[in-house]
Amino acid sequence: MSDPVVTEIDHVAIAVRDLDGAVEYYRSTYGVEPVHREVVEKDGVEEVLLRVADSYVQLLTPVRDDSPVAKYLEKKGEGIHHVAYRVDDCAAALERVKREGHQVIDEAPRPGSRGTTVAFVHPKTAFGTLIELVQE
Ligand code: CO
Repeated sequence: MSDPVVTEIDHVAIAVRDLDGAVEYYRSTYGVEPVHREVVEKDGVEEVLLRVADSYVQLLTPVRDDSPVAKYLEKKGEGIHHVAYRVDDCAAALERVKREGHQVIDEAPRPGSRGTTVAFVHPKTAFGTLIELVQE
């Protein structure tokens, strides 16, 4: 067996309609404070990160009607949108996914939020889960 490509869960992303309401829910019910808030224009989303140990819960809401998250909410409703794994080398991890014959959404790594480098793997050949590879 080779060393694991993924080293930790970086975040679990949850699509919500009411970002402030969701932040307040996590704060009052679980005592989890937001540590980062950012509008990612390219993806048409606003995100809030809640730290849980070494990982995050990422609350996502669309800021435009043509955002993929807007389409997701319309089709599936609120809920888990993707799981993000931390990797040491996003480009190498993405190459490995492709070499293994699996579909990807991003052909090359790209900038993510909070200065990370990310790439998305297609859920179609990933047993139904949208996977994000995150290099910090
Ligand atoms: Co993400």
